[in-house]
Formats: sequence, C-alpha cells, structure tokens
Amino acid sequence: MRIHLNVNGTDHGVEVEPRYSLVDTLREGCGLTGSHVGCEHGVCGACTVLVDEQPVRACLMFAVQADGKRIRTVEGLDDNGAFNALQQAFHEHHALQCGFCTPGMLMLATWIVERGAPVSDDELREFMASNLCRCTGYRNILRAVRAVLDRTEDGA
Ligand code: FES
Ligand code: FES
Repeated sequence: MRIHLNVNGTDHGVEVEPRYSLVDTLREGCGLTGSHVGCEHGVCGACTVLVDEQPVRACLMFAVQADGKRIRTVEGLDDNGAFNALQQAFHEHHALQCGFCTPGMLMLATWIVERGAPVSDDELREFMASNLCRCTGYRNILRAVRAVLDRTEDGA
C-alpha cells in the first residue's frame, strides 16, 4: 500500500508492506539513513524519531501507523546547513564515542529541550536513560544536553 509521510518538512509517498517498520521505511523508502537500527526490540533507542513531536521508537512503529504524520529525524536538525545548538553542544562536549547512538540521543534531547519546561539533573538522567550508549558515553551526553537546557532555561 502507499502511505504519505512528511519527514523534516518534505512529503514522501512510499510503497510499504503492512509489516514494514517506520525506521526501515525511513531508511530504505525515504533514503534517510540517519536513524539507526540497533536492537529492533524497543530497547536501545537508536531509532528514536519524533512523530507529531513525540519521541517514538521507530523500530516498534509500523510505517502504516505513521501514514499522514509529521516526522522529524536527525537529518532535519541542522540550522541552515550549520549545527544547531544541540549538535554543537554534542560536538563541544565530545558527547559521542562511536556515534551509533547519537541520532537517537539527539532526537530524544530535542524533545527534552523543546518541551520548554525546567528539567532537573535527576529528570534529565531519567529521560536520557531510555536510550542506550554502548560506549557508556553518558556523562558527556548529559553535559551537552544540560548546557543547552541551561541556556534555554535562562531565556537565552
Ligand atoms: S532499534 Fe529501536 S529501540 Fe533499538
Ligand atoms: S557513542 Fe557509541 S553507542 Fe553511543
């Protein structure tokens, strides 16, 4: 069947089987390979994208469930070709080692920052704990997201 996804502001019409996952469809149907596939069981969070502004495990969602929805992936984060604030903070705080988890971390962090609500360090740890980093790079990931939150919460 044919479905329509709006990904990062661009409409994609794609042919899918009912069994196709959203992450496979983004990667293979839309050519957007930034979202990574780790566990395919909803455990690792590498496939996290925003669907109608909510973080979703794209390996657990069927593509047909996303028909007509607005999706944001890591490819849509840049700021006119430059790093956005989160990408820049990940760069500055060296918040990645192998980088495999980074797209999912960035999308989850985007949701945390864009909620616009104050986030304590404990809450931040709890939010980010849903995504796994095999390199155990958590400390710098938390530092990077904290830096952006602090700027946002200060109204900068
Ligand atoms: S690949 Fe989706 S949660 Fe691991
Ligand atoms: S940086 Fe290697 S899995 Fe996270």
